[in-house]
Order: sequence, then C-alpha cells, then structure tokens
Amino acid sequence: MGINIMGMGSYLPEQQLTNDDFKKFIDTNDEWIRTRTGIYSRHMAGWEPAWYMGLKSAQKAIENAGIDPNEIGLVITSTITSDFLTPSIASIIQHEIGAYNAAAFDLGAACSGFVYAVDTASRFLDTDNSLKYVLVVATEALSRFVDFKDRGTCILFGDGSAAAVIEKSDKIFSSFLASDGGGAKKLFARNVQIAPEVKTENNFDDGFPEKPMHQLYQDGKEVYKFAVKALPKAFNSASEKIGIKSEDIDWFIPHQANVRIIETAAKNLGVSIEKFIVTLDHHGNTSSASIPLAFCEALEKGLIKRGQKLALIGFGAGLTYGSVILEY
Ligand code: UT7
Repeated sequence: MGINIMGMGSYLPEQQLTNDDFKKFIDTNDEWIRTRTGIYSRHMAGWEPAWYMGLKSAQKAIENAGIDPNEIGLVITSTITSDFLTPSIASIIQHEIGAYNAAAFDLGAACSGFVYAVDTASRFLDTDNSLKYVLVVATEALSRFVDFKDRGTCILFGDGSAAAVIEKSDKIFSSFLASDGGGAKKLFARNVQIAPEVKTENNFDDGFPEKPMHQLYQDGKEVYKFAVKALPKAFNSASEKIGIKSEDIDWFIPHQANVRIIETAAKNLGVSIEKFIVTLDHHGNTSSASIPLAFCEALEKGLIKRGQKLALIGFGAGLTYGSVILEY
C-alpha cells in the first residue's frame, strides 16, 4: 500500500535574522556560519505560536488538496517546540481548520518527525478503511528553545511550518524508522522544574549534563558523526525493501541541518548533489518542519513533478533517523 500526497502548504514567519544580525549580540561572523553550516538566514516566530504557524500551513495544504476538512479523519502534528505540554497542537489545529470528524495527536521524533508522521499516516490509512484523509503538520518554533548567548547553537535554528494532506494509493512506498537512544544525551532540552514545596535538593542524577530548562543543548561534533552515517543508512534501509536504487530517485529531500552533512551523504550514496533539495541557506535548521518546507519550496519552483520518486530522509534528537520513499 502506498500514499498519495494530495496537497501541501507551508508558512514562514515574517521576521528573518541574517548571519550579520547575530554579530550584534554574539562573537560570530557570516563567513564562519556559511562555511561550517551553509546557513545565511532563518525565520523567527517571535510571539506567533507554533500551533498558529501549523494552522496556516494546514489551511494552505487543505486548499491545495481541494478537500473538505470534515473528511479528514486524523491530524498528526510533529513538533518538539509545542506551545503547551497539553493539549496537543494537533487538537487545536483540528478544531481551527474545521476537521470536526478527526482524531488528533502530536508526535515527537525531533528532526525525523515528518518522516515518522508520514509513515504513521500510511499505516493508519492501511489499517482503517473508514479513514479517507490524514493531515500531517510539522510546526516548529525553535527560537524559543535556544540560548541566544550560545554561538554554537543559536545560529543554527529557524522557525516555520509545513503540512501535507495524504490519502491511500497504490503508488510505490517504503519506509524505515530507527532510534539510537544511546545518543539521547547528545541533543536534548530539559523540561523539568521541581516546585520548591516538593523538594529543594536535587538528589537524582539522570545522567544528562546539567543544562537550563527549555534550552537546546547539542554536542555538535558527535551529532555530525551520527548524521553522516544515519542519512545513507536510512535511505538504503528503506530502498532495499522495495528494490529501488539511489539512481531511481528523482529528488532526495533530507533534513536541513548542515550542507556539509548533505554533501557527504550525496557522496556516500553516489548521487549528484543536484538531486538534493537544499533550503537550509534561508531556512536554517527548522527540525521536523525542514523536510516538508524544502518539499513545498521545490513544488513551488516546479522542480518536483507528479510521478517522480522522492526520498525523504530525517535524522535528529533521540537520536532518531528514518526515511520514506514515495511517488509524488
Ligand atoms: O538537527 C539535528 C541534527 N543536528 C545536526 O546535524 C548538527 C550536526 N553538527 C554540526 O552541524 C556542526 O557540528 C556545527 C555546525 C554545530 C558546529 O560545527 P563544528 O565544525 O563542529 O564546530 P565546533 O563546534 O567544533 O566549533 C569550532 C570552533 C570553536 O572554537 P575553538 O574552540 O576551535 O576556538 C567554536 O567556539 O568554532 C567556534 N564557534 C564559532 N565561531 C564563530 C562555534 N560557533 C561559532 C560561531 N561563530 N557561531
């Protein structure tokens, strides 16, 4: 069983920070950021909630798909930067778009989240004949979870959202999802605060480095080493299942973390870099929104066409990784 992506939509907040803007508050420069990451500028959500960005991209995806929101049976939102611990962003979006017959939940698989969510959607569609459409929304406001005094991380991330309306089809489809929780401490943000009335002294060592709450910590070099291996492994594991080769793929849409990771992956897969959609120069790393944002931009530019074979490849905190191969 395969899926058909009926329509996609994206949303980027208006404010942008260029590399030069960072020079106003940290010791950095455009040359370092460009050569080490490939990033030039990124969008910043400010006070716009992650759910609001998600709603905007979802509305565009629904419009492009040309469907009635009442026929959406499931909304899956991928995010690691939710506005709320509860409720799920998916429930808020489900109501706001008028998908009154849909179930809704958030999914957390960090930068692999869109790949995880598309695969989850395909499995729901495969096992529930009453389900007509699934809406997958990836929305991230990473700027709220970085320390703008830490030059090693704050220059990397950006905000934005992209969404897809998905239905069942008999097009080719394969997926591979994986996790290596042994690397959990390499990329994390704490979400724990103890009320002083409960306990004042921390007598529990969770093994993670002591870092402030709600601020992303990353061991960049270790995550880099993981990423350059995970990217080809995720693609090869998904492609082997259906006997597809890298040369059969029209477009690779990888997670947009660092252009050097993408270049290395292209080399390891024996594929021209021209076949990789790269938007990180003007989006930065938007975690799970990065793959669908790149997908949408490639659609708008007319690069991706119906009938072409695509490989979506994610990797990130967890450490998670995975790939979905599908026909557009
Ligand atoms: O989305 C989830 C997956 N995440 C990733 O895939 C990220 C993977 N990692 C990376 O992309 C890279 O490791 C980074 C881009 C994060 C960092 O690049 P790096 O080549 O590993 O640099 P580094 O952290 O080792 O830093 C090298 C030097 C250091 O100075 P010293 O100690 O050599 O004097 C840093 O202090 O560069 C310095 N540095 C900076 N200098 C100017 C770090 N950040 C900056 C900066 N501007 N913004």
